[in-house]
Amino acid sequence: MLNIEKVNAGYGKFHVLFDVTTLVEPKKLTVIVGPNGSGKSTFLKTIFGLTNVYSGRIVFEGEDITGSPPHRVAKKGIAYLPQIGNVFLNLSVKENLLMASYTLNREETKDRLEEVLSYYPLLKEYYDRKADTLSGGERQLLAMAMAMMRRPRVMLFDEPTANLSPKMALQVLKEITRLRDEQGITIVLVEQNAKRALECGDKAVLFVGGRIAFEGNCHELLSHPELGSLYLGLGQ
Ligand SMILES: Nc1ncnc2c1ncn2[C@@H]1O[C@H](COP(=O)(O)OP(=O)(O)OP(=O)(O)O)[C@@H](O)[C@H]1O
Ligand SMILES: [Mg+2]
Repeated sequence: MLNIEKVNAGYGKFHVLFDVTTLVEPKKLTVIVGPNGSGKSTFLKTIFGLTNVYSGRIVFEGEDITGSPPHRVAKKGIAYLPQIGNVFLNLSVKENLLMASYTLNREETKDRLEEVLSYYPLLKEYYDRKADTLSGGERQLLAMAMAMMRRPRVMLFDEPTANLSPKMALQVLKEITRLRDEQGITIVLVEQNAKRALECGDKAVLFVGGRIAFEGNCHELLSHPELGSLYLGLGQ
């Protein structure tokens, strides 16, 4: 679905990703883990057109999207959910959903609102509440619903469970796996709590120092004798 081929990328002259090559498979949940500063967020931003790509290619469903600006990448069906600032706190749930659909026509907006609200009944209940009155987990749900308004085929999540209680975090992860299982959405998930994410993911990619240090299935990484304890605080 997404081919990342020998990508070197960064911010201006600051080189962050080195020869990154990987494959994001359709309808699967790919979990990106690694220490702080290892390039996980930069990897997502690079797919979404928010960094400078020095060399290599990013191919989405056969089409080269390397260097495409974010609005074009979004139009192709890729949604990016940054860790913070993904909802408008001073707007209501309804207004947030309408903001997210500004590129759609009236008919489409109406249809998708209905779809999204029946998929997330909680948001229907909170329709007129301002986003700043929602809990952290509920805000993440709203961010997902906003992305869903555009019917993306790929969703890129950057640490959606950061700052949430363990219980809330699990709920958010459950909602993410539900997007994969019920909507067939391809997901790339950056997570700081490696164990929790690897337990519900399909493929794992470990970044260390801007390079891919391991790639395989999640269970392999979870049970890897050294990598888990070296980089992910697992095992001990
Ligand atoms: N906008 C930016 N401009 C310049 N350098 C940046 C920018 N964003 C990140 N970096 C640098 O790129 C490197 C990788 O950062 P990145 O945010 O991708 O790491 P990360 O793996 O997501 O870390 P964390 O787990 O802390 O979120 C770091 O050295 C960071 O300082
Ligand atoms: Mg990050």
